[in-house]
Amino acid sequence: MSARPVVLLTGASGVVGQSLLREVGEVELLAATRGPVEPGRAARVVRCDVSLPLLGLEPPAYRALAAEVDVVVHSAGLTEWGRPDEEYVPVNIEGTRRVAEFAELAGAPVHFMSTAFVAALLPGAGGTLSETNVTAPYVRSKLLAERVLADSGVPHTVFRPTNLIGDSLTGWTSRGQIVQLISDWICRGRAPFIPVHEGNRIDVVPQDLLSKAVLRAIEGGVTSGEFWVTYGPEAMDMAQSLRICAEHAAARGRRLAPVPVIDPDDERARDLSGLPQLTRTYLSVLRDVSEVTRAGGGVLPTSMPELRDSFGVPKIADTDAYLRTLRFASGR
Ligand SMILES: NC(=O)c1ccc[n+]([C@@H]2O[C@H](COP(=O)([O-])OP(=O)(O)OC[C@H]3O[C@@H](n4cnc5c(N)ncnc54)[C@H](OP(=O)(O)O)[C@@H]3O)[C@@H](O)[C@H]2O)c1
Repeated sequence: MSARPVVLLTGASGVVGQSLLREVGEVELLAATRGPVEPGRAARVVRCDVSLPLLGLEPPAYRALAAEVDVVVHSAGLTEWGRPDEEYVPVNIEGTRRVAEFAELAGAPVHFMSTAFVAALLPGAGGTLSETNVTAPYVRSKLLAERVLADSGVPHTVFRPTNLIGDSLTGWTSRGQIVQLISDWICRGRAPFIPVHEGNRIDVVPQDLLSKAVLRAIEGGVTSGEFWVTYGPEAMDMAQSLRICAEHAAARGRRLAPVPVIDPDDERARDLSGLPQLTRTYLSVLRDVSEVTRAGGGVLPTSMPELRDSFGVPKIADTDAYLRTLRFASGR
């Protein structure tokens, strides 16, 4: 590998890809995408569709790319929750198989973006997911993708981030996600209650912490390991996160009345009839995320101490980063 490794980044137009493109330093990054992408600090944009044979490239272009690439960051994925299992197969599972084949030809290690929610499905998980859990097909597909990579024999790492929020210092994100949407709804006083299992941590991580960890891993030549990009026992609890929402609302001249926190299995939390559609949707997403977190142990596994020690990931309080994310989202 050259002093400045050439890194192929799949999913360059996504939230993680865009964050990586802002953080990139000592590597030459090729931004792989199907459609338009904000190139940021990318050396070049490469058209790639991981659901197609040879990533959608002509054989000579595929071979030339493999000859050029030293490292692959595989971040492309179908990330929307609530689709049936089979819809995740072409991109999340078969796409990962194609990326592994490409990496083998290139002789390149893969850094794979999985999800911390796989903790709910690993042996020893603390509970089961209900048939209707909106995240389950997505999470299953990510775990299967991890297995595809393991079976491929290609050297690889697995990064397992929890739900990501904006940049740790500015709150910036290329696109608002479920955490921002639901937080905004709570801050506007729209949540009649919050369904969360007792003892669950509200584990969200600034996106640049993931990007920094991945880039340091590449620069350090790391080619194996599983890294839980979570706060684990340091993560805020529901009361802390609601206090931050109240602080954010107050700064905008709104008083957020105390929101009851209810066990998702409680009768009151199960009957959503009569509530507006958006309220029903958000409450049921919160309930399902709580179920995944509880099945993952309530407090997600974490590699944060190792990421700080070995990869120089900065020590940022999640509560501060969450408040910055709320401010950034409000300013949009
Ligand atoms: N964001 C989070 O909170 C979070 C948390 C845990 C794990 N993750 C994992 O991190 C990875 C990146 O997440 P994200 O938030 O950046 O996702 P995202 O914003 O939804 O972006 C998904 C990316 O995948 C690309 N993609 C989809 N289908 C593709 C295909 N057939 N071929 C090539 N590229 C394709 C998209 O490209 P187009 O623009 O062409 O559609 C886009 O760049 C995912 O694998 C996800 O599972 C994310």
